[in-house]
Amino acid sequence: MTNITHPAPNFSLVEARALAASHFGVTGSVGNLDSERDQNFRLASEEGDWILKVVNASEPRSESEFQTALLDHLARTGANLAVPTLRKTLDNTTLAFAADSNGAKHALRLVSWLPGKPLAEAERTPETLDSLGRALGRLDRALQGFIHPGALRSFDWDIRRAGASRRRLEHVLDANDRALLERFLDRFDAEVAPRLPALRAQVIHNDANDWNVLVDADDQAHVVGLIDFGDALHAPLIAEVAVACAYAILDTEDPIGAAAKLAAGFHAEYPLREEEVDLLFDLIAMRLVTSVTLSALRRQQTGDNPYLAISEAPAWRMLRRLDAMNPRFATAILRHACGFDAAPGARSLAAWISTNRKQLVPILDRHPATLVKALVPYGDPQHPMTVASAAEQPAKASAWWDAYSAENNIELGIGPWGEARTVYASDMFRSRFIEGVRRIHHLGLDLFMPAGTRVRTPLAATVNSVEIEEDRLGYGCLVALEHRPEGCPPFVTLWGHLAHEAMSRLKPGQRLEAGAIVGEMGVAAENGGWAPHLHFQISADPQLAARDILGVGEARYLEVWRELFPDAAELAGIPPETFVQTGRTRPEIVAARKTALLPNLSISYSQPIKFVRGEGPWLIDDRGRAYLDYLDCFNNVCHLGHAHPDVVEAIARQAAKLNTNTRYLHDAIVTYAERLTATLPEGLSVASFACSGSEANSLMLRMARTHTGRSDAIVLDWAYHGTTQELIDLSPYKYKRKGGKGRPAHVFEAVIPDSYRAPGDWPAEEHARRFAESIAEQIAAMASQGRAPALFMAESIPSVAGQVFLPEGYLKEVYALVRAAGGVCVADEVQVGFGRVGTHWWAFETQGVVPDIVTMGKPIGNGHPMAALVTTKEIATSFNNGMEYFNTFGGNPVSCAAGLAVLDVIERDGLRQNAAEVGTYLMDRFRELQARYDIIGDVRGMGLFLGIELVEDRKTKAPATALARRINDGVRARGVLIGTEGPHDNVLKMRPPMIFSRANADHLVSALDETFAAVLAER
Ligand SMILES: Cc1ncc(COP(=O)(O)O)c(C=O)c1O
Repeated sequence: MTNITHPAPNFSLVEARALAASHFGVTGSVGNLDSERDQNFRLASEEGDWILKVVNASEPRSESEFQTALLDHLARTGANLAVPTLRKTLDNTTLAFAADSNGAKHALRLVSWLPGKPLAEAERTPETLDSLGRALGRLDRALQGFIHPGALRSFDWDIRRAGASRRRLEHVLDANDRALLERFLDRFDAEVAPRLPALRAQVIHNDANDWNVLVDADDQAHVVGLIDFGDALHAPLIAEVAVACAYAILDTEDPIGAAAKLAAGFHAEYPLREEEVDLLFDLIAMRLVTSVTLSALRRQQTGDNPYLAISEAPAWRMLRRLDAMNPRFATAILRHACGFDAAPGARSLAAWISTNRKQLVPILDRHPATLVKALVPYGDPQHPMTVASAAEQPAKASAWWDAYSAENNIELGIGPWGEARTVYASDMFRSRFIEGVRRIHHLGLDLFMPAGTRVRTPLAATVNSVEIEEDRLGYGCLVALEHRPEGCPPFVTLWGHLAHEAMSRLKPGQRLEAGAIVGEMGVAAENGGWAPHLHFQISADPQLAARDILGVGEARYLEVWRELFPDAAELAGIPPETFVQTGRTRPEIVAARKTALLPNLSISYSQPIKFVRGEGPWLIDDRGRAYLDYLDCFNNVCHLGHAHPDVVEAIARQAAKLNTNTRYLHDAIVTYAERLTATLPEGLSVASFACSGSEANSLMLRMARTHTGRSDAIVLDWAYHGTTQELIDLSPYKYKRKGGKGRPAHVFEAVIPDSYRAPGDWPAEEHARRFAESIAEQIAAMASQGRAPALFMAESIPSVAGQVFLPEGYLKEVYALVRAAGGVCVADEVQVGFGRVGTHWWAFETQGVVPDIVTMGKPIGNGHPMAALVTTKEIATSFNNGMEYFNTFGGNPVSCAAGLAVLDVIERDGLRQNAAEVGTYLMDRFRELQARYDIIGDVRGMGLFLGIELVEDRKTKAPATALARRINDGVRARGVLIGTEGPHDNVLKMRPPMIFSRANADHLVSALDETFAAVLAER
């Protein structure tokens, strides 16, 4: 083994000059160079400069030979890096030998002098460190296949022997210093040394200190050479990086950042492995421990050897800094720099939360997504709440927040992840990584609600710890839970600022089911002195103890902390729109609509909502509030829920491939026509496609008129069938209201067959026949004018008329009358079709009839603009009178792909069954409400097509129109969107998406219940 304490050779300059001449035939002037245990001379000859190395007499011959073989190998393989080249002796060998005055024999080697400037004399910029890492990476890659018996040496600078430093501790005089080194040694023995043997090993340089590294004198960021291979050996590869880092980071303001740069440079040239990077922090420290303990020993043995003392003071300073750091955080920085997860599995944890967020139990009693939220102003240093909090005046801070929340109806205050805050003013927040820098970025998610608000675990958990942190502006009561969901790396959640009651309820090791109470938000006296809130944080490193989890971090390492302590917003169910607003504000959009759009467009609600995203039954507004979505169900479009992935994918796939028109052959349109007609009764076998319900109804009109040769129509009062003039003419809901010109002469109106409002003396079983009389009357009126119907059209459940369910047998009676008069019967299924009624695909089927023409729209493409008409062969044939039906977009491949996806999902996911079950459940719950609130005159529904009619008096059935509006507004304020309909606008109309769950139904009913109670209490 190399004995590094053996005295260095002691030849004079004259002797050295003579040795160079006699062995290598080189003459020139000679000067001394520093060396720790060998003796080096610089030789300036006419051929260039050389270094004469006189090797320590204690060095075994095999080791000297190893070094020459190593330089030889590098000369042949090259590493795109200058390394010394050997000059052969006059005897054509690579080593010569000389005896000193004591008779000790020394090996001699002459190597070329490399141009360049020692890194020690250059500035260590991040670029230099990167360049150094890369140079070493290239060097070691070139050494990968090299081995020599002399490489299998071991000596004190071998990182595997770093633990032996413990034996030299006695030479360290200061007890605190010894204790410091012992802490590193203990970690090394326990956690590092056992893992070293399993790491990759190869020949490495092992001493890239800044005197051995040469940079380009003109471009100092560029490492050009490496000298002194005297410490080379076969050792764990990572030691190369650790040794270089140990010197490169000395006296830097951000040592781990510097090490990360160097390691990343190495990694770019010669990829490191995670298990190597995981030991880097400790190995860097252990190189310094080795260095300072050897210095201590040497100082005692030899008296002050100035060379040995050179790096001692900075090494001690660095050890003290490293000692103050959490090695797991330092390792996270190093891992991240090399492209690994900051903690193993950190990225898959974030991905798992994203994928599984819908399965998470809400952490508050009401889902945070549904609450009205606003950011707490801690990001603004001048804000009175921030100023009060920083001055440790929680009561004042709370008062401001409470007043602001009350004024703006805010239910949940949010302190976002990553926010830069000035409230972290105490010494506790000084960075341990970067000199002179403070930690100011919040790494948790704060939820501000009143003290006493309960918080629940979103996933099953085991209690890791429950404790009280007494520090001012600390966490107060602090709970850490560990989660191990299937398919997800284990992680910890931290719950800070809780009330102390959790201490007596929770015990380490205790199991909590998802949704179990963790604690409640504490008052200032219990929560560390803050306005009441929860600090909720994730640690991707499950081994960090609660108090070690970094709650506030440095800006420079925010990306590392983002992986190690991912934003808990998704886990807490807070939509991202809460934090970032895009596009124009609501008032800006309202103003722009006024100037750029038709004023006829109406806007829902006096305080309009800007939605930015839809997901399943939810719509999410621009401030991250999710509404249980009825609004689009009011338009009956998001049949499968918003942004259904199957439909989105089908549209995207086809749009990326081809979109064209019906004049070319394409599979999709015929497949879709077959699939669609297969859902209809026999006879309805010919399909045609359009882009909107209105277009489908317009086509229907052309067909009915061509087929019958007539143009008159019978419709039901308060019906709506479309937006073109010819359809406005068939829509009493339009022509009888504002701007309408009244009923046109070719249109005949029958009464709404509304059983709830039928004359009291009509027996229920006669409703169908009695209401059908109104149709007979219209046919008679037509006849009296010499007219006859081309068509009768009705929605199978009149919706705009107030969710009116036709009396049983009504359509049978009516169709018979109309057909007898030569008219065709049309079912408008634009709102009610596609399985919404649950029991059947089409609502007319519930009446036991088969129409001649069925028109469809809204839900057909789950939001994609498309529509369809299906009719009989007979009508299709007579419509074929020579005039082409061409609709540029109708039936295009993308629309057909969307339509097919909708049918697939309804069938695959059993959505008709779901509509039937959840619809029945909702009806039961509505009846319970009806039993409690007199104002509810009638509840009606089939599947997920539902209505609640409000009346002032159940006897007179006087419509409660104003109240219906207030209920509508009230449920909106509770995050639920519904509509009002009917001639008196007193029917609450609900048509949720077909994926609506029982939980969604409960949410709706509780919002209705609360609203009824509140509105009626105000009456
Ligand atoms: C029953 C009914 N038919 C037809 C239409 C017209 O459909 P679109 O708006 O797609 O043209 C509507 C639209 O609300 C409707 O409710």
